[in-house]
Amino acid sequence: MPKTYKIAVIGGDGTGPEVIAEGIKVLKSASQKYGFKLDFTHFDYGGNRYLKTGDILPGNAFDELRKFDAIYLGAVGHPDVKPGILEKGILLRMRFEFDQFINLRPVKLYPGVDCPLKDKTPEDIDFVVVRENTEGLYTGSGGFLKKGTPDEVAIQESINTRKGVERCIRYAFEYAKKRNKKRRLTLCAKTNVLTYASDLWERTFYEVAEEYPDIETDYAHVDATVMWFVKNPERFDVIVTDNLFGDIITDLGAMIQGGLGIAAGGNINPDGVSMFEPMGGSAPKYQGKNLINPLAAICAGGMMLDFLGEKDAAGAIEKSVMEVIRTRIKGLASGKMGYSTTEVGDMVSDMAGR
Ligand code: IPM
Ligand code: MN
Repeated sequence: MPKTYKIAVIGGDGTGPEVIAEGIKVLKSASQKYGFKLDFTHFDYGGNRYLKTGDILPGNAFDELRKFDAIYLGAVGHPDVKPGILEKGILLRMRFEFDQFINLRPVKLYPGVDCPLKDKTPEDIDFVVVRENTEGLYTGSGGFLKKGTPDEVAIQESINTRKGVERCIRYAFEYAKKRNKKRRLTLCAKTNVLTYASDLWERTFYEVAEEYPDIETDYAHVDATVMWFVKNPERFDVIVTDNLFGDIITDLGAMIQGGLGIAAGGNINPDGVSMFEPMGGSAPKYQGKNLINPLAAICAGGMMLDFLGEKDAAGAIEKSVMEVIRTRIKGLASGKMGYSTTEVGDMVSDMAGR
């Protein structure tokens, strides 16, 4: 009996379902070649369901999703739903409920991809951001005082627990060790100003570092980190950082690797249900046009297989993406690829199954 993995698919809003369909095409073809099975179950969570039913997720959503080996997510965000509702009610809720405490975001410039940085090559841009995914400024802690009056006060608190910080830093050290490239871990924080939150991160970082004498430690303030992304991205191997800093720096990371068309990420709970997604949004203006770039979703599918332990199939997907980019694709911007969404999916899928 071939091994079977149960995958929950949430295509979501806008172009989410279109890119996920191409990802599934590629995943199926890789699974056939490498001798395992993928059993996909689709869930209609997203803006349209919310507008129809009035609830963001059904009451049994988490009991249902908990039965799966992983979740494959397209995008959330609907033009008729106020920003924040679906993001908080679906995406962030998943991250919290499943305690997906790592947001893993590789930043890798593939050969043949146009890089906005002058004179930087694939050798210079190859690092991974390990973003804490359940704490910091994302917990929703805080509140208003005297809302709507001239004396209004708004407080938004960054929650950093020793346990949360430590498990993230530990994951990052392990990742740097397993990755085995530059064997360097950079802590990105703001110790010169955030003398409580960044202090906890810094102390924990150097304490855990003692268990990893063969991993070089490095520190950069968050503002300097983004400067280095542009000036000397080759400095980085693995970066560990808090939730909001990680959110911000990985958008710049996506740009230097060629854009949101290629940037993928994993929301990881090493012992639970993890969720994989392209970094880009729902891009409603491209919906239904067969023009959106599906490569980020395909790469997210590859990350999912890697997480499930199907390393060879994951490697084959990455190689196929690289090959299609190198030999066929004109540009990574949606509509400028020289091929349609489905054609790009077909090309990668053919290659990955061969
Ligand atoms: C991301 C997104 C989300 C975040 C939004 C949509 C809530 O920007 O995954 O990076 O801020 O984490
Ligand atoms: Mn973001």
